[in-house]
Amino acid sequence: MKFFLDSALVDEIRYALEMWDIDGITTNPRHVQVSGKPFLRVIQEIGALVAGTNKTVSVQTNPASYNDYQAIVTEARKLAALSPNFVVKMPSTEHGFKACSILKQDGIRANLTLCFSAVQGLQAMRMGAFYLSPFIGWKESNAEDTDGFIEDLIAIRDNYDFDTEVLVAAVRNGRQITHAAASGADIVTASFAVYQDAFAHPYTDMGLAKFQEFWDKTPYE
Ligand code: E4P
Repeated sequence: MKFFLDSALVDEIRYALEMWDIDGITTNPRHVQVSGKPFLRVIQEIGALVAGTNKTVSVQTNPASYNDYQAIVTEARKLAALSPNFVVKMPSTEHGFKACSILKQDGIRANLTLCFSAVQGLQAMRMGAFYLSPFIGWKESNAEDTDGFIEDLIAIRDNYDFDTEVLVAAVRNGRQITHAAASGADIVTASFAVYQDAFAHPYTDMGLAKFQEFWDKTPYE
């Protein structure tokens, strides 16, 4: 399963590429706003970090166009022309799906974001989504049961041989990463802090402290 970093902070992305060998980056309007930089500047800076690789950067179209597929297509063409690494995010709405199918004919890859049901996922796959982003964390924050959601999306994809990659998004902890992997998800995207926490364990630290005591009391030669 591929690990994507959900961030628009260049320093975080650079670190995650170098230390964790992350496979791609996802951004959203919140991340871009947090970066403190203009949208076009920050996405191009991120694109430059992965230039010459096959790592993708998902960049989001204006949410205001959710009900206007022509506006999504126009903006997506402009964004895709900026970097061969860009995959363009559009919403899991009727117009987002329609835009995705038009863009696929141009060879532009779409990430269908804000997916909360398996049937939205099915329609995204039918319309040619390159990535489908089910938002696990948001569903769970809303007290919704996510059991079976990722499994259903993978089963739908495999039953009908769609070529969409299921990108589990809004991941909040290592348990959700593990669950995504065990369900056969293709990719997870999570924040820098979630990966840092997930890669550590208090027993590892405790064990290191214990071993250090013995190490320090033992002659080396
Ligand atoms: C995914 O592509 C989204 O950017 C992301 O996971 C959204 O969720 P969050 O910002 O609440 O984590």
